[in-house]
Amino acid sequence: MNEQQPTPVLVLNGPNLARLGSREPDKYGSLDFAHLRVFCTDRARALGLRAETRVTDDEAELIAWLGEAVDGHHPVVLNPAAFTHYSYSVRDAAAQVTGAGLPLVEVHLTNPTSREEFRHRSVISGVATGTIAGFGFHSYGLALAAIAERLGTGVE
Ligand code: DQA
Repeated sequence: MNEQQPTPVLVLNGPNLARLGSREPDKYGSLDFAHLRVFCTDRARALGLRAETRVTDDEAELIAWLGEAVDGHHPVVLNPAAFTHYSYSVRDAAAQVTGAGLPLVEVHLTNPTSREEFRHRSVISGVATGTIAGFGFHSYGLALAAIAERLGTGVE
């Protein structure tokens, strides 16, 4: 019998994403962060992964979590939110994840390149394994599928 434990994946979210549901629902949808967490847990389980979904408004906390991913050898799904566009500290932390050979998929609910000019640039993409944007919660599902495929845990 295969008693293998599912691989943990850190699903990390940056500022204002805790306000999903009430924040600009025309752009981000009407489901709240608790729904996103359940969505990621369910998708991950179907893929032979275990999602640990966190959110913070604090750059230092996000950086610490990326360090935790490196030390624990955990793949990462990262929605850096507004940090995407200007945080070299988050970029440097993300670079350590991919530098350690771990997949890190940058995700966005919306498609930032179809929005205001300041959202067109991601300082994270250059160090990410790949980027998925514009599919709402499904951006996270697609990112988890890409990680499962990379790790060869793919159940689907
Ligand atoms: C976002 C896009 C960013 O431009 C924005 O600052 C966010 C959310 C997204 O998921 O679409 O907070 O990362």
